[in-house]
Amino acid sequence: MIILSIESSCDETAAAVTENGRRVLSNEVNSQIPIHTVYGGVVPELASRSHIRAVQKLCDLALADAGIGRGDVDAVAVTYAPGLIGAVLVGVSFAKSAALALGKPLIPVHHIRGHVAANYIAWPELEPPFACLVASGGSSLILDVRDYTDYRVLGSTRDDAAGECFDKAARVLGIGYPGGAQIDALARTGDPDRYPLPRSRVEGNPYDMSFSGLKTAVVNLAHNARQSGQSLDLPDLAASLCRAVSDTLVSRAAEAASALGYGKLAVAGGVAANSVIRAALTREAEARGLRTFLAPLEYCGDNAAMIGCQGYYEYLAGVRGSSSLNAYATMSPDSRFCRF
Ligand code: KG4
Repeated sequence: MIILSIESSCDETAAAVTENGRRVLSNEVNSQIPIHTVYGGVVPELASRSHIRAVQKLCDLALADAGIGRGDVDAVAVTYAPGLIGAVLVGVSFAKSAALALGKPLIPVHHIRGHVAANYIAWPELEPPFACLVASGGSSLILDVRDYTDYRVLGSTRDDAAGECFDKAARVLGIGYPGGAQIDALARTGDPDRYPLPRSRVEGNPYDMSFSGLKTAVVNLAHNARQSGQSLDLPDLAASLCRAVSDTLVSRAAEAASALGYGKLAVAGGVAANSVIRAALTREAEARGLRTFLAPLEYCGDNAAMIGCQGYYEYLAGVRGSSSLNAYATMSPDSRFCRF
């Protein structure tokens, strides 16, 4: 089954063609980073306008790269939640028109489920059930993936996502936007024990997390250094920050995976590209006798291939969007809350 998929939930416009939920025939991503860099963060209205300009071209490019025509498309999948509402709406509106024009089914896909499905591209042997850590710019979640379309949220951040913590730290340190990848690169030559940064502890759920305290700790370090005329060692601070984020995410994800007893732990999302987190997760999972599945680096960040792959399984489960499909800014990946 050939799916044309569209992703526009934040600052990447993406279109892809995938086959049977596992094979990527094409994957086009148009990053808006140059547009938002000057503001140090995503400007929602600019993101929406840029999606409008890019989406049609990217879909044509995705079809051409896949070597297929419009008539070969069996279904259209689209991210419909969560994300910046104006941005998600662009993809949803375009996908509704495309499905109608092609006379093919429309498949609404939850963005986080898409991130999880990035693992299916690289790991043909990976099938639910498994535990999955999803860490991105907007979410930090530990999931029980009971089946392809049956999710349970085991833990989540109570405040900021891990990616937000990296991005804010990078901004205050003048490293650039988005900061996660730059902090990761700087950390390679740094000493992770140099700056003592807090690890969150939250009451009530052992798998829940918090990153706002860590974010504030880095902001305070930067402000205090500026006021006292001292300079911070950026590689050391980057390494200390990566270690702190990694400790928080990895300990909880590994603990949850062990408790579930499936023997499998997957990781996905933009922050899953972090080399410290990937290494720590692999080490910790190995020590616990878990098999680790790391989403490939090129599919960690937002892309449409992952939406097409999850879309295939949503299609098999009977999920269809009608012409009244809406976009949603927030929604849990837990199936009990998914609406169409
Ligand atoms: O998954 P994604 O592209 O967008 C969302 O769905 O939110 O994730 C973007 C986030 C940003 O916060 C970015 O700084 C972070 O992923 N990121 C990283 C790395 N590469 C991207 N964070 C840490 N280390 C990286 N190598």
